[in-house]
Amino acid sequence: MKNLTTDLLIDTAGGVTTLTIHRVAKKNSFTTAMYAGMADVLDQAQADAGVRVLVIQGHETIFSAGNDIANFLQTPPTTLDAPVFRFMRAISSFTKPIVAAVCGPAVGIGTTMLFHCDLVYAGDNAAFSMPFVNLGVCPEAASSLLAPQRMGYGRAAEALLLGEPFMAEAALEMGLISRIVPPAEVNALAQRQAQKLAAKPMRSLLASKRLMKQGQAELVAQRMAEEGTLFGQMLAEPAAQEAFSAFMEKRKPDFSAF
Ligand code: COA
Repeated sequence: MKNLTTDLLIDTAGGVTTLTIHRVAKKNSFTTAMYAGMADVLDQAQADAGVRVLVIQGHETIFSAGNDIANFLQTPPTTLDAPVFRFMRAISSFTKPIVAAVCGPAVGIGTTMLFHCDLVYAGDNAAFSMPFVNLGVCPEAASSLLAPQRMGYGRAAEALLLGEPFMAEAALEMGLISRIVPPAEVNALAQRQAQKLAAKPMRSLLASKRLMKQGQAELVAQRMAEEGTLFGQMLAEPAAQEAFSAFMEKRKPDFSAF
C-alpha cells in the first residue's frame, strides 16, 4: 500500500498494516485529505486478504488533536459522504482486528475512534478528551452511544458534557484501553500484539470480533448518521463559529450569548 498523503505513513509487513498519523507540527490533527486517506487505507486493508491486522499509531508525544480546526472551517463536512464520515464508517465496520497505540493527547476523534479499535495500548502520558460541547458541536463516531456503554453514564457525562480530559489510568479502569506502558514502548507493544494476532487463524478472529459486536452494528451506524447530520448543522451555528474563531485567535470562547 502506498502513502496517500505525506501526513500518513503506511507500511505493510507480515500481514500487519500500520497506519502512522504523521503531522506532528499540527499535533496530528486531521485534515479532509487525511480522513480520505485513512478511509482508503481501511477499505484497502479490508479487501486485501494479505492484511490480517491493522495498527493505528501516532507519535510518542501526541496521538491526535482531532479535527484540524482551520481545515474544518474551510471545508466543513456538510453531507454524510464527507471524508470524515467515510472514515468513521470504515473504522466502525472494519471486520479485522485493529490495534491502537496512543501516547499524549487524544482529542475528539482521537478518542472516539478508539471505541472502534480492539486492543488499545497507551503511554502513561496519554490524555483522552471529547470536548465537543466546548466546541459548540455534538458527539460523533457513535460516541454518544458507545461512551455511556463503555464508561458508564456518569463518567461518560463528565467526559462528554464537561469535555475534560481523563488520563490513561482512568481509561484503563473504564476498559477503554487494554494496558499502560512507558510511551517509548507503546508502538513496539502494539506491533508485538498485532503480530501475535496475525499468526492466529483468521476465520476464528473474524468470527470472534463479529460475535462480540453482534447486535451493535446497526445501532452504531444509525447513531453515527444521526450525530453526523446534527454535527454538520451545528458547525455552521454561532456557538461553533465562536469556539473555532477563539481557537484560531488563541483566546477563550465567549458562549454567554448562546
Ligand atoms: N486543528 C488545527 N491546528 C491545531 C489543532 C487542531 N485541532 N491542534 C493543534 N493545532 C496547532 C496549533 O494551532 C499550533 O499551531 P501553530 O504552531 O501554527 O500555532 C500547533 O498545532 C501546536 O499546538 P499547541 O496548542 O501549541 O500545542 P500544545 O502542546 O500546547 O497543546 C493540544 C496540544 C492537542 C492539547 C492542543 O493543541 C489542543 O487542545 N488542540 C485543539 C484540540 C481540539 O479542540 N480539537 C478539536 C476536536 S473536535
